[in-house]
Amino acid sequence: GKVAVLLGGDSSEREVSLLSGNEVYQGLLQAGVDAHLYDTQEQSLFDLKKHGFERVFIVLHGGAGEDGRVQAVLETMGLPYTGCGMLASGLGMDKLRSKMIWQAAGLPVPDFAVLQDDTDFDAVEAKLGLPLFVKPAAEGSSVGVVKVTEKGQLAAVYQDLKQYRGAIIAETFIGGGEYTCGILGSEALPSIKIVPKTEFYDYEAKYFRDDTEYLCPADLSDADEALMRQLAMQAFEVIGGRGWGRVDFLRGVDGKLYLLEINTVPGMTTHSLVPKAAAQTGRTFSQLCLEILEHATL
Ligand code: DAL
Ligand code: MG
Repeated sequence: GKVAVLLGGDSSEREVSLLSGNEVYQGLLQAGVDAHLYDTQEQSLFDLKKHGFERVFIVLHGGAGEDGRVQAVLETMGLPYTGCGMLASGLGMDKLRSKMIWQAAGLPVPDFAVLQDDTDFDAVEAKLGLPLFVKPAAEGSSVGVVKVTEKGQLAAVYQDLKQYRGAIIAETFIGGGEYTCGILGSEALPSIKIVPKTEFYDYEAKYFRDDTEYLCPADLSDADEALMRQLAMQAFEVIGGRGWGRVDFLRGVDGKLYLLEINTVPGMTTHSLVPKAAAQTGRTFSQLCLEILEHATL
């Protein structure tokens, strides 16, 4: 039956979603799937059935498409969709709640603090140390992430970021390397080490620069690779994840691993990570798309 590839939407990651969605659409066509593009900014979700769609491939990043709202609508309409259900989506898109759950489950996360109007910013700087990162809890693709390097800067950064939905969190700087681990069904894919040429793996390094280096296989020992994959799977399962996703890590200079965040609709652009990890396992992009679709459920 007909498959709708949901893309676009109205989040701050709209442009990324358009790129991802078009790749997935091509990949599905190549696999022989009767796929069609469906921009949720132009067409209503509630018309999906009227247009004859029987399944949905969600490639919306951020906002309603990744935080559970779209999932809840599809669930209610009885249309099977790819990826996480509404609860895992909501938790995954909220960097504060996902961290709290991981912490409660004994999984390693960097120290963090929630920033509010009445926060003692000097005390947070002192507790977490400098540099530190400040980020909106509900954005993706590093939108709104700021590195604070100087004493006294945190309060002003918080004022700038307050405009974003959801909590604003400060997080201790880990410093070693950035890694990521994709999940496909019940399989954790090989990890990838990301070596950005920018200060950190920001929006530009993610999508526009061709000098970001990706190592897959990464530079980990077999034991550390196994540990990262195991942590990724645990982090995914403890929020109730299903289908596919991607867990981002930091690895301190001492080799300790920290969970950074989870993405329940990972990027599928030509620069993106899950396709690179899948390629390492011998899957073409088209096979990857088909496999994600086959996990679609209600
Ligand atoms: N939020 C972007 C799309 C990612 O994590 O890949
Ligand atoms: Mg993200």
